[in-house]
Amino acid sequence: MSGATELVVRGGRPLRGRLQMPGDKGMSHRALLFAAMATGSSRLTNVSRGDDVRRTAQALEDLGVRVHADDKAAMTIEGTGVEGMHEPAGVIDCGNSGTTIRMLAGLLAGRPFRAVLSGDASLVTRPMKRLVDPLRAMGAQIECRGEGDVAPLEIRGGHLVGVRCELPVASAQVKTAVVLAGLQATGDTVVTEPLPSRDHSERMLAALGAPVQRVDATTLLVHHGAPRPFELEVPGDASSAAFFAVAAAITPGSSIVLEEMGLNPTRIAFVDVLRRMGAPIEVHETGERLGEPVGKLTVEAAPLHATVIEGAEVPWLIDEIPVLAVAAAFAAGTTEIRDAVELRVKESDRIGTLHQELTQMGIEVVAAADGLAIRGGTPRAATLKS
Ligand code: S3P
Repeated sequence: MSGATELVVRGGRPLRGRLQMPGDKGMSHRALLFAAMATGSSRLTNVSRGDDVRRTAQALEDLGVRVHADDKAAMTIEGTGVEGMHEPAGVIDCGNSGTTIRMLAGLLAGRPFRAVLSGDASLVTRPMKRLVDPLRAMGAQIECRGEGDVAPLEIRGGHLVGVRCELPVASAQVKTAVVLAGLQATGDTVVTEPLPSRDHSERMLAALGAPVQRVDATTLLVHHGAPRPFELEVPGDASSAAFFAVAAAITPGSSIVLEEMGLNPTRIAFVDVLRRMGAPIEVHETGERLGEPVGKLTVEAAPLHATVIEGAEVPWLIDEIPVLAVAAAFAAGTTEIRDAVELRVKESDRIGTLHQELTQMGIEVVAAADGLAIRGGTPRAATLKS
């Protein structure tokens, strides 16, 4: 490190050893929210320590829930049940966290008070229509900034009724928001996605006794109810692991073991892609936590070749496509990534950023509206802006 915002990296040496990832970010957000919705004390360990999850914890405190951080990764939540939450005194600042603003909006849609959710310069440009449309249909009053339905969101929740809704995009954040609203609604809520997205919420809520059932691969049925308090050691974050897996796969002589990993199939599709590209990867499931498989991954280096990423695989890879694009930059042939227009509306425009930075490294990249074509080669050292 040569300064707070500059990192100098030299390549070359093989990666060898055993690693443990920090707690899964998506599961950490959910565990906090579900613990707050339960009545009683819940205890979480190995919680993600990033700013996003801190925002969710702070938001719950703003709603009157006591969240006690014993140390940086262990927390006790004194769940009040949704009825115990109160109107926040100020604007809830979700920072850069799309998961916080969207999931919290679903919870607040059912609360009989007014709350304003906002965030940083990136968050207030991200699409919220997909979120507010179903919540409005259930009975929540939501005001947004501008024509485009973007944050700040002013939510006046209250009596919700279950609806049947078909989401316009495969988004676990939006699906979860509808589920959290559905748990507070009168009657059945049925939520359908165009393709299956990551399924942590339905696995965890069902394991906690909340009435959330899978009807088929893309449809959930939700009744009025709540989760029970629980204890959870959050498994290692699969999206973080993907970076180490790619680093090992592309660096000759490498061999790593990632332990205590979350192995939810909707999060480790990057393993299938890297295997297709020629990387030897093994997955060993050793147990389960709140309906989530856990275990270890072993990854070794191998010469990689190009692949195609498209269709139903994309929602399960949405946060790993950037690092898979790096693998593609080292692979023989041209890798095609398609059907990934959602990458344009993440924390940054991930298609634009990959195009710009891989080009800087001398890799031939063609960007399309919904993806990239990356011709593998020998990336050269460069100054990159992350
Ligand atoms: C997330 C779902 C994804 C993902 C995000 C976290 C989640 O977003 O990109 O980083 O925890 O549910 P979308 O559901 O909007 O695709």
